[in-house]
Amino acid sequence: MLSDSQKTILFGLLFFSFIFYSFRLYDNRHTQSGSHNVLADNGKKIWQQKNCIACHQIYQLGGYLGPDLTNTYSVKGPEYIEAFLRSGTVVMPDFKLNRTEITALIAYLKQIDASGSSDPRTFTIKNNGMIEQDE
Ligand code: HEC
Repeated sequence: MLSDSQKTILFGLLFFSFIFYSFRLYDNRHTQSGSHNVLADNGKKIWQQKNCIACHQIYQLGGYLGPDLTNTYSVKGPEYIEAFLRSGTVVMPDFKLNRTEITALIAYLKQIDASGSSDPRTFTIKNNGMIEQDE
């Protein structure tokens, strides 16, 4: 068994770890530094207002009428994206976006593209429900 002084030391250590961890967790200064892209932020707002996620996925989450757009920027390029945003297609509506809105949306998709891949790894779902990661 622990003696009283050992308990006090242990309690002290846990208490200070708790305080330290809490400060670290809620101190968001480090997450807010780095490149803060106002244009991409505007693009995100337009993305939300126009509800692009209803038909498109980002990181494979979203609607399934249109394709995943996580890596469209690096795979197909900004001109390709712009062509869709300018006039839409038979299936995708024309949102009548102006130049500024199109530029902002492209900046947003560029930022998303830089943040990760929509399909980071391939895996096989076996018929017993287990998932096996491919090499
Ligand atoms: C009603 C569903 C719908 C909405 C809402 C929608 N899209 Fe689409 N989008 C599509 C479909 C479907 C395609 C595939 C092209 C086609 O089949 O005509 C597409 C294609 C695209 C492409 C080309 C992707 C590729 O890899 O070929 C981009 C970029 C795109 N959409 C961006 C957007 C943005 C940005 C918004 C929001 C402003 C948006 N879309 C809203 C349905 C939609």
